[in-house]
Amino acid sequence: MTVLMDGRKLSKKIKEQLRVRVEKLEKSAGIVPRLVVIMVGQDAASQIYVRNKQQAAKKIGIQTIDNMLPEDTKEEEILNLIYEYNEDPNIHGILVQLPLPAHINEENVTHAILPAKDVDGFHPVNMGHLFMNAPHSLPCTPRGIMELFKEYEISPKSKNVVIIGRSNIVGRPMAALMINADATVTIAHSKTLNLSKLTQQADIVIVATGQPQMLTGEDIKKDAVVIDVGMNRLPNGKLVGDVDQASIDGIASYLTPVPGGVGPMTIAMLMKQVVEFAERSVK
Ligand code: GUN
Repeated sequence: MTVLMDGRKLSKKIKEQLRVRVEKLEKSAGIVPRLVVIMVGQDAASQIYVRNKQQAAKKIGIQTIDNMLPEDTKEEEILNLIYEYNEDPNIHGILVQLPLPAHINEENVTHAILPAKDVDGFHPVNMGHLFMNAPHSLPCTPRGIMELFKEYEISPKSKNVVIIGRSNIVGRPMAALMINADATVTIAHSKTLNLSKLTQQADIVIVATGQPQMLTGEDIKKDAVVIDVGMNRLPNGKLVGDVDQASIDGIASYLTPVPGGVGPMTIAMLMKQVVEFAERSVK
């Protein structure tokens, strides 16, 4: 039997704990955690993510300062906005929703955020700390996956982990976290040959490719743990992950469902990092 890892339930528990921490912080230090959200353009998926982040923040008591900018906003305007918030002591975290429109250099923008306010953990300084096993701020999706492992008492120690996808947001930081947790890690990607041979040897497979239902039951060994980071909309409107859930069912020991697995955890981790940053500002 395959156990579905319930990211909705765990994220609710974490957000409730955060709400209590925020209440305490306000009582003891008079501080309300504040998160700046910057979104440029009308990307449909991004609009949903941003709305979910705003709603989660509100429930926890985190104040968001929303900057919904038009598609044709100049890079310089975004950078200037970031510089202002970098200087503002009342702002604890700054988030720029990705992807940005093609005329804006994503690297310039993520690098402009002060590492101490980089709630996404995308700044190279934070990425560097992570790879040296002394993280200050972590990319939210990989951190959320580690929380799921903890909750379900699955230890990555000495396990063979295959990560499919080498993005800066998921694959690369996920690999670093898994190395830090004493796993043996392989990163596969679109140019990898004989992918199925690799995944068939893995105790844990983490898929973040954006290719609907690409990993099937034939690609994994019995009792593997399968983490599905995908979020794909099929032409018929159905939301599916990168894993073919039906064919994995009964073969994997654990699986994160889509929706309701990794997605809610990403948002919970973002909230956690905002609260941590606000708490750090007192000390
Ligand atoms: N786009 C897709 N995932 C993310 C994320 O975790 N943070 C931001 N800022 N943008 C994203």
